[in-house]
Amino acid sequence: MEQLSARINSLDPSATIAMNQKGRELKEKGVDVINLSVGEPDFITPEHIREAAKKAIDGNWHHYAPVEGYPDLRKAIVEKFKRENNLDYKPSNVMVSVGAKHSLANVMICLIDKGQEVIVPAPYWVSYAEQVKIAEGVNVIVDTAVEDEFKMSAQQLEEAITPKTKALLLCSPSNPTGSVYTREELAELAAVIAKHPQVYVIADEIYEHINFVGGHESIAQFDEIKDRCVIINGVSKAYAMTGWRIGYMAGPDWLVKACGKLQGQMT
Ligand SMILES: Cc1ncc(COP(=O)(O)O)c(C=O)c1O
Repeated sequence: MEQLSARINSLDPSATIAMNQKGRELKEKGVDVINLSVGEPDFITPEHIREAAKKAIDGNWHHYAPVEGYPDLRKAIVEKFKRENNLDYKPSNVMVSVGAKHSLANVMICLIDKGQEVIVPAPYWVSYAEQVKIAEGVNVIVDTAVEDEFKMSAQQLEEAITPKTKALLLCSPSNPTGSVYTREELAELAAVIAKHPQVYVIADEIYEHINFVGGHESIAQFDEIKDRCVIINGVSKAYAMTGWRIGYMAGPDWLVKACGKLQGQMT
């Protein structure tokens, strides 16, 4: 008889991974199928990255790394935030994990308490709501409309916030809609967040470089809320490195420290 926990029974399997598996099976049977399930770039990992990995293997980089990531890597991520996003972080604000999905899971578990609400604008990437469930939080789904380019307005955000709200999950550029929030739109959302000091922003920026609209803007650029923003990013999409499993978070150092404690017991 199965004796699974209520926690795992409450969880839906990843719909995108199931669709991907189905696509693979059909392909193996010779069916001409176009697989639009998982976010898999249509190019391969650039050569300089592949060469660096080969060098790392021959250079004997085979042992346990520091839990939060090698200091050089954390420093390189800090430099990336300055160069590409004009954001100032210290290495203690940054942690590397096994993909952005893992970074996100760490943050959910370390930030969300049982019964606390997480605002998720819809349509959304399927894992958000399931990860909120793992953290025993409550999903507050806010529908957005095609006429609004599937973006949540400041008014919608204001209306969704309650005394139990702990976080807003913001994905820009968005999977699945492709919409990209402008600086002005983010400023309006930030002004609402600023009024509610218990609310954090988990900004999933993994599609930063897959952007068909214009420049990527981060909600962490607004000083009044920066210390309540957690950025999730990684190399999967921009550099076609989905199988390498490298993601990272940037946020307040107390949260990075907690995520390090969790990761140290998990990986
Ligand atoms: C919106 C979104 N966030 C995060 C991820 C996870 O990326 P990673 O491969 O770094 O775990 C994906 C992957 O499909 C995604 O679509």
